[in-house]
Amino acid sequence: MAQSKTSTSIRLNKFIAESGLTSRRKADEWIDSGRVKLNGKTVYELGVKVDPRKDKITVDGKALKAKTETKVYIVLHKPEKVVTTLSDPEGRPTVKDYLPKVKQRVFPVGRLDWDTEGLLLLTNDGEFAQSVSHPSNDIPKTYLAKLDGQPSDAQLSKLLKGVSIVGGKVKALAVERVKKGSDKYDWVKIAVTEGKNRQVRRMFERIGFDVKKLKRVAIGALPLGRIPKGNHAYLNDIGLQKVFELPSWLERNLHDSEKPGRGGKKKKSKSHGKRKKQITAGVKKQKKFRKKSTKAPGAAGKKTSKRKTSRR
Ligand code: URA
Repeated sequence: MAQSKTSTSIRLNKFIAESGLTSRRKADEWIDSGRVKLNGKTVYELGVKVDPRKDKITVDGKALKAKTETKVYIVLHKPEKVVTTLSDPEGRPTVKDYLPKVKQRVFPVGRLDWDTEGLLLLTNDGEFAQSVSHPSNDIPKTYLAKLDGQPSDAQLSKLLKGVSIVGGKVKALAVERVKKGSDKYDWVKIAVTEGKNRQVRRMFERIGFDVKKLKRVAIGALPLGRIPKGNHAYLNDIGLQKVFELPSWLERNLHDSEKPGRGGKKKKSKSHGKRKKQITAGVKKQKKFRKKSTKAPGAAGKKTSKRKTSRR
């Protein structure tokens, strides 16, 4: 009997139910009464797990095929004051509320805080989600932060060298002051690869600033673009690929890492050269995934929400 331990394994009753034949409860009855065979042997164990890609399952001698859901990849412009979950026991607005017409069972890839807005990916493709979230893949996430003051270049440099926050030492891949808004409050662009809890806010706290507003503007080279707050778009293959590429501002900054914000030296840093190699390696690893990725239906421009939906 194949008791597969891979991430693609599911309970036998779920597999039977998903093939569209019956409910999970009925599937249990079928297993119990000896109608189900797993790789040629009658199986009576209700909780057994199977790998639909490898295992052969029959009911009354007839082979079953699992229905595979179309893979979808969604970019949502998450507003502030929304939780990055599909349901909330406290009744707060969730990201699911913003995708009322999406039929597939999508889930968020990583998370944004309640008070952070910006680019949130959702998908029903576990392998993709894992590729984006896994720390070893070093996918850079770019944020725009409005601070309650004006950090000096030396303060911003500290973020590149690394600061200790709850959960360990973290460093920014690049930091760039963005000229925006009033003279009093600077906007700073920052890229990080780790995904620790409230990481960006905590990093700025460590150099003495509170983040008044935080917006994720890109994952890899995929920008949030002009998707209005609360709206979403489906990713096509090109958009999907961008997730695994470096954004151009980062390419620039990684060659010019000692120039956080205005001014600074234009010297190339050894450690950042090495860092760039690591990141590029992580990005290259994803080529395998890209070839395998399926085309999202949204690439055909299909609208799925009353809220404006675009294609990217
Ligand atoms: N860093 C934060 O502090 N908050 C987020 O939502 C994402 C990154």
